[in-house]
Amino acid sequence: MKQPNHQKKRKSTFRFRTFSPKQMKVMTWWRDGSPFADYDGIIADGAIRSGKTLSMSISFVMWACERFNGASFAICGKTVTSLRRNVITPLMGMLPALSCQFEEKHSESMMTIRLGQHVNDFYLFGGKDEGSQALIQGITLAGVFFDEVALMPESFVNQATARCSVEGAKWWFNCNPEGPFHWFKRQWIDRADERRLLYLHFVMTDNKTLSERTLEKYRNMYTGVFAQRFIEGKWAFADGVIYSMFSQEEHVADTADFVPERELIAVDYGTFNPCVFLHILAAGKGDGIAHFIDREYYHSGRDTAGSVGIPKDDGQRAEGYPHHR
Ligand SMILES: Nc1ncnc2c1ncn2[C@@H]1O[C@H](COP(=O)(O)OP(=O)(O)OP(=O)(O)O)[C@@H](O)[C@H]1O
Ligand SMILES: [Mg+2]
Repeated sequence: MKQPNHQKKRKSTFRFRTFSPKQMKVMTWWRDGSPFADYDGIIADGAIRSGKTLSMSISFVMWACERFNGASFAICGKTVTSLRRNVITPLMGMLPALSCQFEEKHSESMMTIRLGQHVNDFYLFGGKDEGSQALIQGITLAGVFFDEVALMPESFVNQATARCSVEGAKWWFNCNPEGPFHWFKRQWIDRADERRLLYLHFVMTDNKTLSERTLEKYRNMYTGVFAQRFIEGKWAFADGVIYSMFSQEEHVADTADFVPERELIAVDYGTFNPCVFLHILAAGKGDGIAHFIDREYYHSGRDTAGSVGIPKDDGQRAEGYPHHR
């Protein structure tokens, strides 16, 4: 491995301010004596500007450099361009203050960081960049840091986490919330305990550098679902969702063992408006009743006939009905 150029004495260009207790938790969870030291990773989600990226990028580099020597790590963003802007450039301003020396190889999208006698490589990936999945496939990693993970394709994250085969490897995730059924919420946050991941939820006041005036400005910037997600940090439904009481846990079940007792056809008849037939299987009585939608016919006359054309007649609808699942 090439050594970083130590001749260049870089000065820290970043002014650190007081870290909040939550930021301190992000900075220290992996250290000896922490109850979470043997966890396999950390997730920090929540409000915008709440101090997630800053604390996690410092902690990730310190963990990597203190625990490993000669290892490879991945730092991932939505794109390499956004990653450089949001994470790498601020990080380079902080590294000298953390006693780290570094060398960036822009053309290779990687940087080498030295702390004392330890030298490690950090490769930059964009989850949405074409080719990033292919690039990450062959590499062996001791850790991955995903900034804004909810904006990346699930397949990329699965690929990257699977590369962490080095003993003691850890995963580091942060993001703002999306919808409640987003793959990251369901696969990682809801399963954080089972996956042995420390889960921390950030609100804006976890960033002690934001003044009351700035907090107020952000609070006034968003309304509706964006206020819920970006300010309150909740995994909230998009506006316009009709069945907001729908719950994956309560309303979705495996049909393998289901024995239907009755069949129903529900109809919302339309000519130009959408026409929907649902074939429903039901079992049970009273509160214990279960309905399963087995087959669906959907046709919008407006889509095919246009506003002055002829919609489908009943015979044509019957032909379009799916007789087999
Ligand atoms: N302890 C600190 N000292 C100095 N600046 C800080 C500190 N904590 C946070 N900041 C600054 O506050 C701003 C927001 O922090 P950060 O980018 O970490 O938030 P975030 O939660 O990742 O936000 P987003 O969800 O919008 O990406 C950044 O400009 C960051 O440098
Ligand atoms: Mg961030």
